[in-house]
Amino acid sequence: MVIRVKTTRRKVFEHEAPARVVAVLGGQLSEEGRWLDSQMDGALSKFLKKTRFSGEFGEHAIYATDEVEVVFFSLGKRRGHTLEQVRAAGVRLARLAARLNSRDVVVENFLADRFGKKEASYALAEGLFLGAYSFDKYKSNPARLRRNFVIAQGFGPAVDKARLVSEGVYLARDLVNEPPNVLTPVELARRAEALAAEAGLEVNVFGPEKIQELGMGAYWAVAKGSDNEPRFIELVYKPEEAAAGHLALVGKGLTFDTGGYSLKPTASMTTMKGDMAGAAAVIGAMKVIAALKPPVEVRAYVAAAENMISGHAYRVDDVLTAYNGKTIEVLNTDAEGRLTLADALAYASEKKPAALVELSTLTGSCVVALGRQIAGLFSEDESLARELARAAEEAGEKVWQMPMEPAYKRLLKSEVADVKNVGSREGGAIQAALFLAEFASAPFVHLDIAGPAFAGNAEDNPNGPAGGTGFGVRTLVRWVERHA
Ligand code: BES
Ligand code: ZN
Ligand code: ZN
Repeated sequence: MVIRVKTTRRKVFEHEAPARVVAVLGGQLSEEGRWLDSQMDGALSKFLKKTRFSGEFGEHAIYATDEVEVVFFSLGKRRGHTLEQVRAAGVRLARLAARLNSRDVVVENFLADRFGKKEASYALAEGLFLGAYSFDKYKSNPARLRRNFVIAQGFGPAVDKARLVSEGVYLARDLVNEPPNVLTPVELARRAEALAAEAGLEVNVFGPEKIQELGMGAYWAVAKGSDNEPRFIELVYKPEEAAAGHLALVGKGLTFDTGGYSLKPTASMTTMKGDMAGAAAVIGAMKVIAALKPPVEVRAYVAAAENMISGHAYRVDDVLTAYNGKTIEVLNTDAEGRLTLADALAYASEKKPAALVELSTLTGSCVVALGRQIAGLFSEDESLARELARAAEEAGEKVWQMPMEPAYKRLLKSEVADVKNVGSREGGAIQAALFLAEFASAPFVHLDIAGPAFAGNAEDNPNGPAGGTGFGVRTLVRWVERHA
């Protein structure tokens, strides 16, 4: 859906639009709803009585005549609301609007009396944008829907900001949704370069020679099995006034993960185009950061590769030397993400960032532990962990902190090298995090987004359709903003 969102200082009943949305709280019309109702001689309250709203969140009804369509949207009980519900209402409204006959829809600024016009407008607009997303570039006959929303008594600058943030989420979703034959590492680098040119970011891209020359032996081992060359991507945002120090972001960028010689069965291989969702989140966040211009330098890194089988692919039993000199015994070629990340983390650490946040679709184990809507958060730095948890909470993305149990480190001890790339099956997500920590030498947070990054069906994505969710973009933007 092509969506526009604007604001007006007028109330819902004062704004001439063929479609109007009013809130229902505890089964009763909101104040905006009552204004509109009195203008319509009580038609709305009569209709509402007939529909017997139970008052549950998300319940809705449409009252339609030849002139108007009025949507009743229930926000649940009268009290105890959160901004997250306003955002969720926006998501549902965007989808609901597809069923309306009118293009122009004026919406009450939900719960603005409780949260203020600004916060309420932001949450509603963000929900509308996120919910309106669709990926149909490969459809011959896409549904060409257009909806123009106007938030009554809304706050314009908040809507502008929600639009900017959503554009970063859209970019991340688009990158994840692109099929792997299109979005190769080379193409991912091209898209990062296009973003850099458009947004005014610095960009550096390395190919196979430079990757080997630098000594990124773990990353190169994963990459070398594919005919699609790897690309190491660095994006840099510099604030107008030179700042001391910087923040670093790292995203896992496997444009496709077959598992390599530890081959995945077909059922697990489908959706593995999404194994670059960490990279997508980082690139999407950089787009937003370039637009919001916080007073802090941010450097983003992606070691993009494809995990394939061939005569030059790496094997089980191989021993690799990472960028920081540590040696790794490969026991499973499907634990490739941590190998590419080992070098990216060591490289990012070298520039001494104040903090290093990394996102990856790293383990099925994390999906087993936390399900499809919650990311695992791992850090040996408690205060940094809290910063990220808070940013995620404010952004409306669900994360849950997991332990970095030191006793499990011995599970990664190797007979022939410094570490091995897999330990035991139990607590796999924790071992993966402990492995990564061996290569990060700055204050470090790892977010395992294997669950929430990709939705197999729309039910798994509370903020949009099936496919890439753009998970992480909003958390990263919040965190960087707070740090500034
Ligand atoms: N990309 C996968 C992890 C994954 C699984 C992401 C499900 C999204 C959904 C990763 O490279 C992988 O294959 N991990 C292995 C690790 C194991 C071999 C130790 C896994 O989780 O099975
Ligand atoms: Zn894998
Ligand atoms: Zn993977």
